[in-house]
Amino acid sequence: MPLTNAQQRDVEALIHPYTNLAKHREVGPIILERGKGVYIYDNRGRDYIDALAGLWCVSLGYNEERLVEAATRQLRELPYSHIFAGRSHEPGIELAERLKEVSPFAASKVFFANSGSEANDTQIKLAWYYWNAKGKPQKKKIISRNKAYHGVTMVSASLTGLPNNHRAFDLPFAGILHADCPHLYRYGEAGESEDDFAARMAANLEALIEREGPDTIAAFIAEPVMGAGGVITPPAGYFERVQSILAKHDTLFIDDEVICGFGRTGNYWGAQTYKMRPHAVTCAKALSSAYQPISAVMMHEEMYQAMLDQSRAIGVFGHGFTYSAHPVAAAVAIETLKIYEERNIVARVRKLSEPFLERVRALNEHPLVGEAVGVGLLAGVELVADKAAKRNFPPEKTVGMVCANFAQEEGLFTRSMLNDRLGFCPPLIITEAEINEMFDRFTRALDKTEEWVRRERLRG
Ligand SMILES: Cc1ncc(COP(=O)(O)O)c(C=O)c1O
Repeated sequence: MPLTNAQQRDVEALIHPYTNLAKHREVGPIILERGKGVYIYDNRGRDYIDALAGLWCVSLGYNEERLVEAATRQLRELPYSHIFAGRSHEPGIELAERLKEVSPFAASKVFFANSGSEANDTQIKLAWYYWNAKGKPQKKKIISRNKAYHGVTMVSASLTGLPNNHRAFDLPFAGILHADCPHLYRYGEAGESEDDFAARMAANLEALIEREGPDTIAAFIAEPVMGAGGVITPPAGYFERVQSILAKHDTLFIDDEVICGFGRTGNYWGAQTYKMRPHAVTCAKALSSAYQPISAVMMHEEMYQAMLDQSRAIGVFGHGFTYSAHPVAAAVAIETLKIYEERNIVARVRKLSEPFLERVRALNEHPLVGEAVGVGLLAGVELVADKAAKRNFPPEKTVGMVCANFAQEEGLFTRSMLNDRLGFCPPLIITEAEINEMFDRFTRALDKTEEWVRRERLRG
């Protein structure tokens, strides 16, 4: 089909993140106009259930009037102020206080940035700053994990453990290491129990630390559930084991809650679901239900004391963004946190999680599905060529993408990730009827994909 005028203008003017730029010139964009609840509407009036809440972020759906009002009020009062050199404002102060109150660990202070990537870059700078202040400047290396997603700025992209974020970008940086991805379905050995697998993952991490030299390791960073790597839930006991190794080797533990924070996994934080005891937490996305860009780094008291020591020695703390604690973003985030509290969002997720996970588990019966797993209102579905052998389709056939396109035809937005894994992370305001509608649409897309796979003879 020839491109419409709007599509042509897009192709001539816009670079789209995470898009095949060559193919985009042929097919053009889908142009969205408005949203309501869990639905988005395109410029042809077609509706889509947003099964990924935008990019795992629009937790309160697309028409939360209270957030619009909070932004408008703040725009009228003080649309901007930086917080450099001792300036401050009430929304920045209040949001930091509220985050400290709900934090999954004893957070002492909060630093604001605009995106998950910037917050994770900040985490690594702070880890270096910390160990320098502690008189251990050799502790510099950071351990992340294969298939982790921590963002796309230079250090965050290095932390990310996905080939596409490194290839042709000259990344990852030296000194950023990747431990095993703890995905039982993919990497568990024949006959290995979940507990044995967790023990092996932890033992491999310890071996890596010992090989590199514990006194060279600054920090370990992990998402509770690996999100953009394919929604990979950790094996039971994994984080307890990892934690004791980190403690033994005096390594900071950074918890990236950019997707898992604010109720997603059925607790306020993924850290609570998986018994993680971090020294620092990154959050973003649902912090403001994505109505404004804002992220935060929450740090423990010891980190703050080290920063104070550095300040006494160096003077100014030389880090911060023009928009750190932007008052409009902060005001929207405060209102978001109030809504979570008033509507008891965690209880809501737990209740809805039952019908949601029931539908997720049922997908395992489909001939295309190798693994369908989830927690809370978060799930991943892996499409495979051979269920018994867990064999993936050849990557160049982009079967996951084909399925996501069929889903779009059926009125559903999901996202295909590495190894043809599709993600589900709907707005937390979704109803049980909408959950059923979402999976009905997805099942029709799966059936169309199965027919296509047969037509193309992709099973060999
Ligand atoms: C766990 C995690 N960390 C960091 C990021 C990066 O956030 P941003 O895209 O806001 O830079 C993401 C984005 O999806 C994420 O899922």
